[in-house]
Amino acid sequence: EESYDEECDYLFKAVLIGDSAVGKSNLLSRFSRDEFRLDSKPTIGVDFAYRNVRVADKTIKAQIWDTAGQERFRAITSSYYRGALGALLIYDITRRTTFENIKKWLSELRDFSSPDTVIVLVGNKSDLRQSREVEEEEGKTFAESEGLYFLETSALENQNVEEAFLSMIGRIH
Ligand code: GTP
Ligand code: MG
Repeated sequence: EESYDEECDYLFKAVLIGDSAVGKSNLLSRFSRDEFRLDSKPTIGVDFAYRNVRVADKTIKAQIWDTAGQERFRAITSSYYRGALGALLIYDITRRTTFENIKKWLSELRDFSSPDTVIVLVGNKSDLRQSREVEEEEGKTFAESEGLYFLETSALENQNVEEAFLSMIGRIH
């Protein structure tokens, strides 16, 4: 674990997007502070977290932006996406509508971000096996058709969280 003010070679901005309650804020708190809350509140406006990661022989400071999935709590869209080199596009495997809405999020992301932005599709809450409404194969197939990377995660069980963020950060050039 590296400290907040350690010297870094690069600063990368990345954004989290997806419907309300898919687990964006908990994925970020898991990645940045190893924290998870069952009773977390919806995000209002924009939040940030930082984590330094080593990629090859460089230290990258990842500045990760988290916003509200709920339209009425969202900040100005263009400033949220501006300069983002990476994005995690997140749905909840137990709510099919959140997967169907990925198309809408992807089109907004493509409208406002650069064509080089590295996008990783994330199916979160993989721990809730009994309530699954989206098969892993469907996520994978959709990601392939759109040229995205894909992973299922659990912020609760800390499954694949590190991998999701690092696969995005590691592919940013
Ligand atoms: P908005 O801020 O409204 O856009 O929501 P969000 O996407 O940030 O969701 P948030 O992280 O606040 O999580 C919503 C709910 O889902 C909370 O009750 C979390 O505890 C729960 N949750 C998040 N990730 C997981 C997970 O991996 N597994 C399970 N079982 N619950 C999760
Ligand atoms: Mg949130």
